[in-house]
Amino acid sequence: MSGNLSPAEIGKFLSAKGALRFVEPDMKLGLGTGSTAAWLVKLLAHTKRTQGLNFTAVATSYATTELATSLGIEIRGLDEVGQLDLTIDGADEFDPALNLIKGGGAALLQEKIVATASDKMVVITDKSKRVDALGAFPLPVEVVRFGFRTTQRLVSELLADQNVRGRRVTVRMAGDQPLVTDEGHHILDLHLEKIGDPHSLSAKLATIAGVVEHGLFLGIADAVVVGHGDGRLETQFAGRDDWQVEEIDLEAEAALLAALAG
Ligand code: 5RP
Repeated sequence: MSGNLSPAEIGKFLSAKGALRFVEPDMKLGLGTGSTAAWLVKLLAHTKRTQGLNFTAVATSYATTELATSLGIEIRGLDEVGQLDLTIDGADEFDPALNLIKGGGAALLQEKIVATASDKMVVITDKSKRVDALGAFPLPVEVVRFGFRTTQRLVSELLADQNVRGRRVTVRMAGDQPLVTDEGHHILDLHLEKIGDPHSLSAKLATIAGVVEHGLFLGIADAVVVGHGDGRLETQFAGRDDWQVEEIDLEAEAALLAALAG
């Protein structure tokens, strides 16, 4: 009934749909980046079109700007809009305290600027991103292009004193060239396997001159919404251990899913 969509994709749709309940008319919204955030953008465009929902939107990447604009959502500049009410974005990992790793899509810099300029951040994700301790997903670190190999060496050296399991640092590539982010930087991926003390690592990375920002989002998320392929929707709020669990009727969502997926 949900066409050829995989359970993971249905989960992403459900999490984005679940996050819509945090959106109120006339809000100033930050729109995240990635495949889960793309569902949110489609849902917002649909709600605007069919129910006249009014909102002001700021994007976290050129990719999101392009998608939103193509669907009739006007994207405004962050400086023009100022403090946002709510940012909704995906994540590569989240732990029980709702600390995150982000930047798998190389948009972590704009994502962090937008999320920290928002009164609230809601994370939309599927169950594959839930971990007991951050670090299985390589931690992205955005670095300036000047001397980036030296920055890579300094980051490697810094890891010697950190409570991490792996210490390999690689340069993210786009074909045979280092990837260039929307802000014109490169990305280092830190293969740490397990991060014992994310706060210590965050503080240390910030001391390296060539580091622009890293993908640890600590204490920023207010809630995580997890969609499952079987229709379950789980929400956890920061500072609370319990999950709010709901069953969504997938049959009732089938038409919308098909329309947005198409
Ligand atoms: C981009 C991000 C994304 O939010 C993260 O990679 C999750 O993406 P997806 O929803 O496609 O799994 O941080 O920089």
